[in-house]
Order: sequence, then structure tokens, then C-alpha cells
Amino acid sequence: MSRQAVIFDLDGVIVSTDEYHYRAWQRMADEQELRFDRAVNERLRGVSRMESLAIILDHSGVRLAPETMAELASKKNAWYRDSLAQLTPQDVLPGALPLLSELRARGIRQAIGSSSKNARTILDRIGLRDWFDAVADGNGIVRSKPDPEVFLLAARLLGVVPETCVVVEDAEAGLAAARAAGMKAVGVGAAANSPLAHCAAKDLTGAALDEWLA
Ligand code: BG6
Ligand code: MG
Repeated sequence: MSRQAVIFDLDGVIVSTDEYHYRAWQRMADEQELRFDRAVNERLRGVSRMESLAIILDHSGVRLAPETMAELASKKNAWYRDSLAQLTPQDVLPGALPLLSELRARGIRQAIGSSSKNARTILDRIGLRDWFDAVADGNGIVRSKPDPEVFLLAARLLGVVPETCVVVEDAEAGLAAARAAGMKAVGVGAAANSPLAHCAAKDLTGAALDEWLA
């Protein structure tokens, strides 16, 4: 099977926004007197904003009306977006640019497949928007990872069949989504040791491209 495209998750793969998400959720949880910590935060990797809130509420055994949930999620997002203003091209994770450059030289198409509705803002802040032939994000999908929708959308936008795509992910939910889409799943960072990964690397500096594209 000849590989035609690599679809990158954004948060935790191309740029590290984890700490910003964590601090904004922690602030919301403190205000609402909800239990929250870094272990719960880990479970939010790759998960949409509303599903993240549902996990946090569930952890404290709290149920809220949909309107109240929407208010809390939008408050968290406002705090999170304030911190995104600090992002600069310096925040691109090690290995990302050389990898994008090598893929382009090999004629491999590249896309973003992210659950985030802030993906385009982030890409603009870190100056990488022009590297991607397509951006599939939280604004274009109904079902979030582990559902394959965002990766299938990315493949459609690129005009390639799913089986020719490789996904690079730092979340279990993302690796599961890649597999469900019929794509090869590469685990990096927090997902490097996942049994769902077809191959893995500590970060993008360790990309074994020939193996990833095999
Ligand atoms: C994913 C993050 O990329 O985006 C999750 O890993 C986050 O932690 C999700 O909840 C949704 O992000 P946003 O920016 O739409 O709130
Ligand atoms: Mg991620």
C-alpha cells in the first residue's frame, strides 16, 4: 500500500497546549468546587470540550443542565483562548518542522485532524498554517475521537482514500479513531506506549519515516 498522506493531531503532537487546557479546567473546577487533578486531565487528551466537561463533572458525581454546561465550557474556553495569545512559533514541538519539510519533499500530503475548535487559531499563532493541505477540526465534525469522523474528513479534504493515510497521535482516543478509520496509527508522547499504536516514537524528532510510511 503506498502511503499518500500523514494526518497530524495538533495538541500534544505539533504543539504543547496541554498545560493551558489543564490550567483553564482547573480554574473552572476550583470555581465550581469540583474535584480535578492532573490524572483526570490526562483523560481529556483528544476528547472534545463538552465531553471533557462531562468527564470532569462525572468525576465529582455532579450532573448539570445542558445550558449550565454550555456556560461553563464557554468560560473555560475564554480562559484557554487568553492563554493561546502567548503562543508563538517557538512553541512548535521539536522535530515537527523538519518532519513536515521531509514529507513535503517526498510528495506526501499533510493534514491536521484535531478535536479542537481552536485548531486554526493555534496554527496561525505558531505560523504553521501553510504547511497543511487540509485542516479537519472540531468545527467540522459531530462525533469526536475515538470516532473516526475527523480523520475520515481529513482524508476526504485531501482527496485520498483512508487506507493510504498515516495518523500521528498523542491520545489513546486518537489512536482508536485512526484504527477505526482504517489508517495506520503512530503513537507519540503520552501515546508512545499504547497497544493501539502500530508504531511509536518519544516525539517527532524520533520519526522513523520509512517505517511510518510502510
Ligand atoms: C484536543 C485536546 O485536541 O482538543 C483536548 O487534546 C481538548 O484536550 C479538545 O479538549 C477540544 O479543544 P477545544 O480547543 O475545542 O476546547
Ligand atoms: Mg492530542
